[in-house]
Amino acid sequence: MTASQDRGQFGSKIGFILSAAGSAVGLGNIWKFPGKAYFNGGGAFLVIYILLVALIGTTVMLAEFVIGRHTHKNAIAAVREINAKWSWVGGLGVLTGFIILCYYCQVGGWTIHYIIGYITESKTIYADPMNYFLTMLGANGFPLRGAIIFPLVFLFLTAFIISRGVAEGIEKMSKVLMPLLFVLLIGLMIRSCTLPGANEGLYYMTKMDFSVIGTNAILTALGQAFFSLSLGMGVMITYASYLSSDENLVSNTGIVCCLDTLVALFAGFMIIPAVFATGIDPGMGGGFAFATLAGVFSSIPGGTIFGLLFYFLLFFAAVTSSTSILEGLVAFLTEEKGWERKKTLVGVSVILYVIGIFYTLSQAFMNIKGIWVSRAGVEFPIFGDFLEYLTDRLLLPLGSFGVVLFVGWIWGTDKAVQEATSNGKYKFALAPVWSFLVKIVAPIAIGAILVAGMFMGMAIS
Ligand code: PFF
Repeated sequence: MTASQDRGQFGSKIGFILSAAGSAVGLGNIWKFPGKAYFNGGGAFLVIYILLVALIGTTVMLAEFVIGRHTHKNAIAAVREINAKWSWVGGLGVLTGFIILCYYCQVGGWTIHYIIGYITESKTIYADPMNYFLTMLGANGFPLRGAIIFPLVFLFLTAFIISRGVAEGIEKMSKVLMPLLFVLLIGLMIRSCTLPGANEGLYYMTKMDFSVIGTNAILTALGQAFFSLSLGMGVMITYASYLSSDENLVSNTGIVCCLDTLVALFAGFMIIPAVFATGIDPGMGGGFAFATLAGVFSSIPGGTIFGLLFYFLLFFAAVTSSTSILEGLVAFLTEEKGWERKKTLVGVSVILYVIGIFYTLSQAFMNIKGIWVSRAGVEFPIFGDFLEYLTDRLLLPLGSFGVVLFVGWIWGTDKAVQEATSNGKYKFALAPVWSFLVKIVAPIAIGAILVAGMFMGMAIS
């Protein structure tokens, strides 16, 4: 039996939706989004974000879905089947996925570190949350747990789920974890919004002061939307390739984008009111969901259980996303190179694990020693920030740019709409609007973020 005959398939519509939403809902929603909303103007940022998801995010996602479902192939083979010259679009996605997964597994490992920390040493966390975070990264010696042990556990779990295949692994996991994630998130949000002093945070998150929205905030929102919706790296192409031809891609796109955005908003309304209620100064970057929030939990009633549940939430979100990235990589390597699935999994995992270790080590450097590497008068960010810049600012937008140009101008929107409607089986009243967005609006918007990413460098975040 050849690899392509051996392909998996989602067993049900809900399984696909929860798996695609599981890929989209991840560390991006809970670890990155609230911090970005906080530092870019609160309520006004939320409005900009929602508009961009509605206009550009849904457009790119449907474009990825149609490519994948039309061909039933991994990202590279899918694009190649339609036009061989454009297979770089899929190839770029696979490369981006690999880079993201290197650091994603490290941060995923940190969530496990905190879950165990809340169970076994919550007093140490409470004594000094920032020190606990920095120790995990290596402030007091080599970060054995933060860089080596827990990321390995996280990666092992991810690889184990993938080894079980699409329906038995990804779909089953998503059906259990995604509903749990929603319940946890809503419970935590209610807890946070009812804290004494939470009103100020609620006010901040609903304040419509558009004077604070500049180019940076818009580009940040767009970059965040790509990352959060898992666009630009072929994962949604790969997932849709496991979908049967009579599923409604248009409604699935709407549902997945809504779920992902809802989770980001809920996470914002879970985190920001709690930050305001406790008056803890929110630090930037990765420390936000770890050091800052651990500080928040330590100063509210019932904080230990609140904290424990929060890190479970973060872990569920992370693992349903990391599996999607690894699946994209493995699908490519097994189908294109003919490698055996389990061996491929082990090989890829080992390589990305080793590279990922340097992410945590470089975070330690930056957070603890404030070191920036300076060469020839130019400040180079260290490895961790550089990886995020490379993926969020350049590679993901470039991948999405390729997808919309490919669907809009090479394959053609007429054929894409045929696929989107399952050859006319489903109504798609907005097809002309979508075609216009794919051909014109999305390439311009994505082109802008790419150019800004190249010229403004890492100034935007
Ligand atoms: N969307 C995920 C998140 O928000 O954390 C991250 C991600 C997963 C990005 C899969 C890209 C991807 F292909």
